[in-house]
Amino acid sequence: MRITLKINLLTTTWMLFILILINIVVFILFMTTTVNMEEDRAFQKAGDLIKNIRANDRSDQIESDLKNNLTENSYIRILQPDGRILYEITNEKELAKKVKGKYVHTREAKRRNIEIDEKEKQVIIVRVPIENVPHLKGSIEIGEELEGLETRKDILLLILGVSTMLAVILSLLSGKWISNMIMRPISNMINTMEDIERSGVPKKIRILNDTKDELQTLANTFNRMIDRLEENFEKQSQFVSDASHELKTPLTVIKSYANLLRRQGLEDKELADEAIQAIHSEATRIQKMTETFLDVASLEKEVELDLEIVDLALLCQDILKQMKKVYKREITLHFEQSPIFVVADELKIKQVIIILLDNAIKYSNDTIDIFLEKNDVNAIVRVKDYGIGIPEEEIKNIFERFYRVDKARSRETGGSGLGLHIAKKIMTLHKGEIKIRSKEREGTEVELFLPASLEIV
Ligand SMILES: Nc1ncnc2c1ncn2[C@@H]1O[C@H](COP(=O)(O)OP(=O)(O)OP(=O)(O)O)[C@@H](O)[C@H]1O
Ligand SMILES: [Mg+2]
Repeated sequence: MRITLKINLLTTTWMLFILILINIVVFILFMTTTVNMEEDRAFQKAGDLIKNIRANDRSDQIESDLKNNLTENSYIRILQPDGRILYEITNEKELAKKVKGKYVHTREAKRRNIEIDEKEKQVIIVRVPIENVPHLKGSIEIGEELEGLETRKDILLLILGVSTMLAVILSLLSGKWISNMIMRPISNMINTMEDIERSGVPKKIRILNDTKDELQTLANTFNRMIDRLEENFEKQSQFVSDASHELKTPLTVIKSYANLLRRQGLEDKELADEAIQAIHSEATRIQKMTETFLDVASLEKEVELDLEIVDLALLCQDILKQMKKVYKREITLHFEQSPIFVVADELKIKQVIIILLDNAIKYSNDTIDIFLEKNDVNAIVRVKDYGIGIPEEEIKNIFERFYRVDKARSRETGGSGLGLHIAKKIMTLHKGEIKIRSKEREGTEVELFLPASLEIV
């Protein structure tokens, strides 16, 4: 069953139930108050008649008094204590015949249904003892058809019935309208999702009205999720195309040298040596590159850091020892205090420092300085070179994947533009920061800020 129909039926049934309950209460209240009023009136009449009887003892006068007080479809009778009827005046013989007279000591009121002329009629009967009248001992009895009550009851039932019907129709119509209003944005969402399922292309939900309700929050959340998906899709395909582009150049070199070897064989020893050398170095480059790609890919996921207490001074000394052996460059480490402890993933922080030193070595020829400091908030590693520097307008881009300022030069130096991207990712994982200050032809200074507290453990 559709949800709109469900809401509609549910609200209407509930409303119908409440209306019927209210109608019953109204009907009962109306009936009891009206009958009570009629009874009061009859008692009042009986009281007046007794007063008149008290005032005069002539039987013809009593009879005419009774006659004068007779209303439509009623009877008045006076009964003696032995039950015999002393007087009886009626304009509805049938009624008088059907109600048996009864003498009473205390006043009473009764309601009865009596069939008169083959019709059910409601009748009230009041009986009042005649007291303090020396010349007449007995009780007075008045019986009256509640004719007005019947018609009023019918009118009331009609009004209640018609208004209930009207309310039900209105409820069905408004229920349909309300459920349509609620369902429109939901149908809109379902359509969009089905579209996405069919085409496989992320698509946003069109928000028609600014309703600021839960449905709009749902649509906004969905749209934000689609935004992120699109961003990730974009990033992924960009990465794949960038990575394959990077691999293409060394592969082309390898292929052309291999072709050369195939065509000319190994006869030309010098050429063969050159080819093998080139193939080896390009293959090494590809190997390094794929390792870096894997690094980037793993850092894209939420990686767990292997945190431990690391002495930055000791770590830098170790790195320098290795680097100096390989590169034969002058790298100086400056620090005033030692040890400098931080809580970090040692291997990853080592990787960051090597990335920075690798850049400093590639993009400068002079000495390189490393400064270590610690304040209350951070431990700071500063790698400073006096090389080519980075143009000011490029600084904002260099953390992006595959971004290189001078593509031609980077080719010579063998960079793929991923180093700083990886460094930034690692620093973010450590809740730290990386900042670059650089001036063209003067040099570059990269600062790493690692939180000094143990909070991240
Ligand atoms: N110390 C530096 N001096 C001058 N330019 C730099 C320096 N460090 C980085 N750059 C510039 O920023 C670019 C991005 O650096 P990044 O380390 O990300 O890539 P890469 O060094 O080219 O390659 P990779 O590090 O992946 O081998 C570099 O290509 C270079 O143009
Ligand atoms: Mg680099």
